[in-house]
Amino acid sequence: MSAAALIPAWPAEDIWQQVEPLLPGFSVEALASVDSTSSELMRRARAGRTEPTLLVAETQTAGRGRLGRQWKSAGAYEGTGVVPALTFSLGLMLAPHDWSGLSLAVGVTVAECLDGSAEPRIRLKWPNDLWLAGDRKLGGILVETATYAGGPAAADAQQGRYVVVGIGLNVLPVLADGLATPPGCLREVDGSLTAARALKRLALPLVQALLGFAEHGFAPFQPRFARRDVLSGRGVTLSNGQQGTAHGVSDEGALLVHTGAGMQAITSAEISVRPVAGA
Ligand code: BTN
Repeated sequence: MSAAALIPAWPAEDIWQQVEPLLPGFSVEALASVDSTSSELMRRARAGRTEPTLLVAETQTAGRGRLGRQWKSAGAYEGTGVVPALTFSLGLMLAPHDWSGLSLAVGVTVAECLDGSAEPRIRLKWPNDLWLAGDRKLGGILVETATYAGGPAAADAQQGRYVVVGIGLNVLPVLADGLATPPGCLREVDGSLTAARALKRLALPLVQALLGFAEHGFAPFQPRFARRDVLSGRGVTLSNGQQGTAHGVSDEGALLVHTGAGMQAITSAEISVRPVAGA
């Protein structure tokens, strides 16, 4: 594939045509650079702009991950116009009965869209990471909700909340950059994928999945998560120091970990989990 083919011509019109019938008022925006596509949609929502929007950027200067971590795009391609990662956020009003498991449902959808192999290659690490073989991170998901000036003070059961689903995926190889394990990239899964093609594949299924989640919750996604669950059966260490063995996720998206104190359902967004090396 030539370098020119890697400079994205975002399929904004195609995506709009597919999605607008499901989300009236939907728009697609592509920016060359922004601090963070999620921060931008959150700022807009707090200012009362809660239209359904897909915002994609070639570069983020302050990409954010879960637990206040940074999400860095690969720097090696700087100045070439080549976009090595797909970074976008989708914001929309959503009113599920229960928000538990939303980032897992998004992970299932992303993995299935980009990897249709009989033996899954894109795996999911609870709660929000996409991994390839060798415990290599391929991408991550950041789900946030906004309340806004003039809007309901708290979650409104009828109207719901504005949710911003941010997704970052390495498309081209990333320099290991001091990491013990070099990250994975989509080109390992499908050599024809570019950031633009991946976005085109993802946009409609993602919207359908979010609307499905609002109606039926996480339960229908649970067996699909289980097929790709990278932690299942492995020894894990929680960030609070506890150790145990992961036993899949509940139908509410909690990670089930068997520890010395018995089976625990881990739901805390503040807890991170890492597999015990070699386990
Ligand atoms: C994680 O790995 O903890 C989640 C990473 C999420 C990164 C995406 S990139 C698009 C959107 N904008 C951000 O600042 N973060 C998300």
